[in-house]
Amino acid sequence: VTALEGRAQPANAGEKITIDPFDDAVLQNPYPVYERLRRDAPVLWNEAIGTWWVSRYEDVFVGLLSDEFSAKTTASQLGITGEVDLGNFGRTNTLPTTDPPDHIRLRRIANRSFLPRAISDFRPRIETIANDLLSAAIGAGVVDIVGTVTETLPILVIAELLGVPTSEAATFKRSSLDMMKAFNGPRMSADEARRAETAVRDLEELFESLRIDRQHRPQSDILTTLAEAEADGAKLSRQEYLATCVLLLVAGNETTAGSLAAAVYLLGKNPVQYQALKEEPTLVDSATEEILRILGPVHWVVRRAKRDTDIAGCTVPAGQAVSFLLGSANRDETHFSNPDVFDVARAPSDHVAFGRGSHQCLGAPLARAEIQVFLGALLDNCGRIQLVDDHPRWTGSLQSRSLESVQVSLHKT
Ligand code: HEM
Repeated sequence: VTALEGRAQPANAGEKITIDPFDDAVLQNPYPVYERLRRDAPVLWNEAIGTWWVSRYEDVFVGLLSDEFSAKTTASQLGITGEVDLGNFGRTNTLPTTDPPDHIRLRRIANRSFLPRAISDFRPRIETIANDLLSAAIGAGVVDIVGTVTETLPILVIAELLGVPTSEAATFKRSSLDMMKAFNGPRMSADEARRAETAVRDLEELFESLRIDRQHRPQSDILTTLAEAEADGAKLSRQEYLATCVLLLVAGNETTAGSLAAAVYLLGKNPVQYQALKEEPTLVDSATEEILRILGPVHWVVRRAKRDTDIAGCTVPAGQAVSFLLGSANRDETHFSNPDVFDVARAPSDHVAFGRGSHQCLGAPLARAEIQVFLGALLDNCGRIQLVDDHPRWTGSLQSRSLESVQVSLHKT
């Protein structure tokens, strides 16, 4: 790995910096690495994975808004290992890996289901789901909040929004969890790979039967919107219909689950901040943004230079891949004061946890609603969060990093 000069002269230009993004030590705590990159090698060719690493806030922000980059990337750069067959989702270009005009066509269809209005109408259902899940955990002694609450909440929410019948909810949940393992990169075992493949097949079968059902009996759910676009022919192919259904699970479940678990961890570790939120619940919105900024689950997004392109004084040759490090940008000391401090009242927070530009997270209004509602339910019912393990392990990959488990006691008073 070779450090190249950035816009600011690196203190150690020419020094070799070695970073393996799949190294467990990096996954457990990537922030010291990011800090060093921002200071010494803000635009770095990382031979280990064959992409340029861009780590400063300004360069990430500008890069994601630029049309010098294409989103057409390979599965391995997205964190999927080559050996897993992810069905239509693996074979078809979906939103995150398409450029205009396909991206505009697909985004226009999907956007309808994620408008802020549609999400705010759905908020009461999220409240019920959050309260139901939390009521079993609060006052129940030591629980793993991941296994009991945070991993399940986004799956139940998206199942309802999609329109998956309640009779299929248990299968849907198991398949969604199994499929997530395909994104663990080299950490995935052979057994997990087979289970992920079975899960995708089961989910595609379910979505195919619901497609036919919705074309005859339209309802007010996402599957109807997508099935109608498929019926139109010109708008969405059969493969794109199936791939988009699976994409919504892939993109939305683990990321949101990871953010909810991070919320419990951060508030358990910072009791003064939890108290501040209890005293001033209107801070729930800024607390949500702060959780996303400081421990957002998506640490990089990958693009490809369409032509020779300048980033901070470095020329990225045409065709080469660039990883924009959102996780680093969100801790950039030149943009955020005291970036490593968790402050629920931080305002404004123009973090990049949802990316920027045309590929900015489609599900951001939904994810925000889920985190805000979850925090509200926690504040209403839990007086104190006691972390049992101060240093829980991180799992996944830098593509989607989340806590493996968070052992806590949620006390009523
Ligand atoms: C806290 C939770 C979430 C985080 C941190 C997150 C993060 C992101 C990021 C960083 C991107 C940009 C990818 C890129 O630029 O290449 C993205 C895109 C996307 N996200 Fe999310 N996401 C979250 C939740 C969701 C949810 C709940 C859904 C839907 C159910 C969703 C659906 C999508 C889709 C479809 C895209 C692709 C958009 C496009 O390429 O046009 N996400 N997300």
